Amino acid sequence: MSRKAVSELARELRRRPGNKGGQRILVVGKGGAGKTTLSAALCLLGAAMGRKVLAVDQDAQQNLAYSLGYPPDKAASLRPITQELDYIEQRVGARPGRGWGGLISLNPDVSDVTERFGVRIGPNLHLLVMGGVVQASTGCLCPENALLGALLRFLSSQEDDLIIMDAQAGLEPFGRTVAEGFGTALIVSEPTFNSMHVAGRIASLSREIGVRRVVLVINKCQGEEDVERALRMISDQMYDDVCPLPFDPSVRVHEPNVSFLVDAGGPYIQAVRRLMASLAQ
Ligand SMILES: Nc1ncnc2c1ncn2[C@@H]1O[C@H](COP(=O)(O)OP(=O)(O)OP(=O)(O)O)[C@@H](O)[C@H]1O
Ligand SMILES: [Mg+2]
Repeated sequence: MSRKAVSELARELRRRPGNKGGQRILVVGKGGAGKTTLSAALCLLGAAMGRKVLAVDQDAQQNLAYSLGYPPDKAASLRPITQELDYIEQRVGARPGRGWGGLISLNPDVSDVTERFGVRIGPNLHLLVMGGVVQASTGCLCPENALLGALLRFLSSQEDDLIIMDAQAGLEPFGRTVAEGFGTALIVSEPTFNSMHVAGRIASLSREIGVRRVVLVINKCQGEEDVERALRMISDQMYDDVCPLPFDPSVRVHEPNVSFLVDAGGPYIQAVRRLMASLAQ
């Protein structure tokens, strides 16, 4: 079968009713590289195309709601699921912050999670504020992480056509718990040594934990020299694809509401549209 035929079949399979194999995209990278802006733009563009989209905010700073255009007063009062202590205790069998006691479940039933905690942003766009992975130093097997793992496994089995997760910055919180069920990682980097270095380490980790498609997004490029400098810092086979996004002053003008930016169009949004089209292949 030709590559074109394979990608057409993949698209067709994704469209079939009851199909649970939609796109699962993880957006990761160094702090400030542009993860939340890109996550929001992809969600809004996907929803505008009529896809059923679930945005997942895994960053403890919880910026994604603002970026999706959710009213700021309401966004400020959203609480991450990792702080729903009663829910976690009820499902996992242990309360965060307390020791394990009695029987605990590493595979709790979280099938009601979007219904209970999901926030409706638009007709086919919902947000789940999940909260960050608790750092390894406080114990990986804590109840919050057991819940997060179950949540991510559950989400990957859902019928949403597109699930985009805005992950915590950097490398430390990134691991199997976060990447569970995500087929594509978009590693966002600025065209600088430090940012590209972190991106490279995230790329190797992504491969180790079985993410199938690892894409480097070189964000805030001011001209060809930035793209070329970044490309010189990567080795063959580090990434399946590379996508440069331009530095666009209008991103900051419309901050934090990316829906204004999408409406306004401009070079950044045009480039994100191209990225989205390439991810569908
Ligand atoms: N292509 C771009 N052109 C210009 N400014 C940009 C671009 N992408 C992002 N920015 C700006 O860079 C800053 C950081 O973006 P953003 O919050 O999306 O990054 P982040 O990776 O989510 O950060 P954090 O790690 O703090 O969560 C914001 O001020 C945003 O407006
Ligand atoms: Mg962010």
